[in-house]
Amino acid sequence: MQAPHIVILAAGQGKRMRSRRPKVLHEVLYRPIIHYVLDLARSIPNRSISMIVGHGEAEVRKGCEGFSDIKFFRQDQQLGTGHAVRTTESFLGKESGPVIVLSGDVILIQKASLEGLLKAHAEGGSAGTIATCTVPQPRGYGRILRDANRHIVGIREEADCSPDEKSIREVNTGLYCFEASSLFPALSKLTNDNKQKEYYLPDVLKQFLVDKKPVATFEMSDANEMLGVNDMHDLAQVELALRNRINRFWLTEGVTLQDPASTFIDSRTKIGKDVFIESNVHLIESIVGHDVTIESGTRLVRAQLGNGAVIRQGSYLEDAQLGVDCSVGPYARLRPGTQLGDEVKIGNFVELKKTKMGKGAKASHLSYIGDAEIGDDVNLGCGFITCNYDGVNKHKTVIENGVFVGSDSQVVAPVTIGAGSYVASGTTVTEDVPAKSLVISRGKQITKAGYAAKYTKKK
Ligand code: UD1
Ligand code: MG
Repeated sequence: MQAPHIVILAAGQGKRMRSRRPKVLHEVLYRPIIHYVLDLARSIPNRSISMIVGHGEAEVRKGCEGFSDIKFFRQDQQLGTGHAVRTTESFLGKESGPVIVLSGDVILIQKASLEGLLKAHAEGGSAGTIATCTVPQPRGYGRILRDANRHIVGIREEADCSPDEKSIREVNTGLYCFEASSLFPALSKLTNDNKQKEYYLPDVLKQFLVDKKPVATFEMSDANEMLGVNDMHDLAQVELALRNRINRFWLTEGVTLQDPASTFIDSRTKIGKDVFIESNVHLIESIVGHDVTIESGTRLVRAQLGNGAVIRQGSYLEDAQLGVDCSVGPYARLRPGTQLGDEVKIGNFVELKKTKMGKGAKASHLSYIGDAEIGDDVNLGCGFITCNYDGVNKHKTVIENGVFVGSDSQVVAPVTIGAGSYVASGTTVTEDVPAKSLVISRGKQITKAGYAAKYTKKK
């Protein structure tokens, strides 16, 4: 089968979204919707990808920066989907073979459907093959018109439908495959003689029929796949459908989801075996190892959890990497640049930023640790703080292997505490400490026996 050219329509304003943001940059499960369409296009080997941009062009191009294999075409005025595809004529007008058209706002189509469409198109030898679907709620979609022999004879946009036509539930999914050599001559003959005064892409079909060229349909069975994002209700519905699809996949893979209805796993996250996930958990672009427990209210953003991790309730991990058998939280915050070795314990109300913790190190309660390198088996007591910022610059703290830091201590960075040292409770460390030392900086205790009576009211 010849590799296809893929054209993605993304120039429209998306008026019905009632938003200043271009429609294709709205997000579903933490990704701009256009990324799903680009992933789908990229799943087809040896294809070319053309994208039509117009409304919010600069923003849309920026939003697609990570995809270097796109050829952009500009549609200055958004005069309709047919007009949009014509902008690629300088490139595809000279080509032969299949051209797949994808809508930038139809994001749940699966690779198998695209392959099915391509195959049906190649086998049918058609000028155009339209993917259709019979849906419970056809409102907003173009309806498929068929003759008594069930041959497709046209597509009618909702705005142009008669009341009878409106009751047709087979709709145009916005996914098409055309022969390049037939497509552009047909596009050049489109008119905008319709309610919306637009050049409709689906109207090329009429032209093919006039020219006696074969047309076909490819019927998709999953009504969720073809959901289009036209307004905020659609966006919410598409997110729910995608979330259910992803959660179903992980359940099939043996992951326990205590409450799938409140579990948000994005399409880039990977999860190992024997993982238990409680309710109201968000996993975004993360990698979760085997035998991991994630308690409720936790959010992972680009986090990597080694095997055996336990993330307790209400923790927020962002750009953080954990070794094996770590325990984090409840209510811990691991900010970007956190790297925990194996068997590290981070307890409640502990915040880490740009910090490495060695094997077996612990910070169990109420701490801020930033710009630090903490060695193996270091114990950071309750209320430990790295004073890493002097108002202008950030400074580094190094605490070598086996150091014990007593509660309510601070280090004023830059500072290094040598291996095996002991920092007494309530100490403020301002200078480097050699290995195996005891460091203590606190006022001497004065106790005045019986003195309290002075402050006690006489009865
Ligand atoms: C379109 C189809 C409809 C189909 C539905 C499936 C047309 C005329 N109608 O309707 O039959 O059932 O998709 O989801 O094609 N765009 C441009 N330039 C334009 C206009 C639109 O690039 O001038 C882009 C939009 O950014 C969008 C896509 O084309 O990504 C579809 O446009 P939209 O306005 O959403 O069409 P629908 O009304 O959904
Ligand atoms: Mg649409």
